Amino acid sequence: MIEPVSPLSPAGDRHFDGLADKFSASLYGGTRGELRLALLDRLLPEMLELEGQPLLDVGGGLGQLAGWFAERGHAVTLAEPSGEMLVRAREHLAGHDVSFLQVPLQALPEQAPGPWALIACHAVLEWLADPRGALATLAGLLAPGGQLSLMVFNRDALRLSNVVKGNLEKAVADRLEGKGLRKRLTPISPLTHGQVEAWSAENDLVIREVAGIRVFADYLRQPPESEADRERLLALEHRYCRVDPHWRLGRYLLYTLERPMHAPQEATP
Ligand SMILES: C[S@@+](CC[C@H](N)C(=O)[O-])C[C@H]1O[C@@H](n2cnc3c(N)ncnc32)[C@H](O)[C@@H]1O
Repeated sequence: MIEPVSPLSPAGDRHFDGLADKFSASLYGGTRGELRLALLDRLLPEMLELEGQPLLDVGGGLGQLAGWFAERGHAVTLAEPSGEMLVRAREHLAGHDVSFLQVPLQALPEQAPGPWALIACHAVLEWLADPRGALATLAGLLAPGGQLSLMVFNRDALRLSNVVKGNLEKAVADRLEGKGLRKRLTPISPLTHGQVEAWSAENDLVIREVAGIRVFADYLRQPPESEADRERLLALEHRYCRVDPHWRLGRYLLYTLERPMHAPQEATP
């Protein structure tokens, strides 16, 4: 019997080969994708200190974020293991100051060691078998004083949306994550805020800012139909995305993590 080829990488990560069309259509083709980009457009300048630093975009996907930074004067290096995603990113970013590396995050200490003053890693950790190790790798690439814009898929929001949709059995069994097989877009390692807090502390990263991305939109019974309602929804998302308790149930959690200028003092005996 021929074993089916696993879509997972040897490290157990879900590279997006075979998923590019579905990802592009279902995540960026509708209101949810539009909202995510509109919120990032407002939040990135509010949450990061941007001075045109070179940017390493890890798991850069189709290249939307790389384009945003390139248009604001940052020289961007987009690292992405999936050849299929890279083809689309190159098309999307034609004419921009972006260089491309076909490598996974785990190879970056060798392939692009930096150190980097600015790194973005959006919606990638949840597709990895070892997100904790990945955060340690990212921390090691940051220069002292460097900033990491980290966005992760929020496990607590995934539970709520499953309950809202009536998937009670799944929620009771706490079987929320996907397996990364076939063409499913349910991440294999959704994360909690507690994990990000703990793993940041382990790596001496300070959480400077946090926001929820789509704190309301994914729970609506009906998507907004008129342009005016889409504008209202964006206004509400922006108003409450950094307000407790709403940010905690954003579909994604967006962080600014900073590596302090000076290593923390060793405790004196
Ligand atoms: C949900 S997409 C996010 C893309 C983009 N950052 C965005 O925000 O739209 C996840 C991306 O992570 C990539 N990925 C999967 N495993 C990876 C790894 N080990 N290192 C770097 N990227 C990886 C996938 O190929 C895919 O392009």
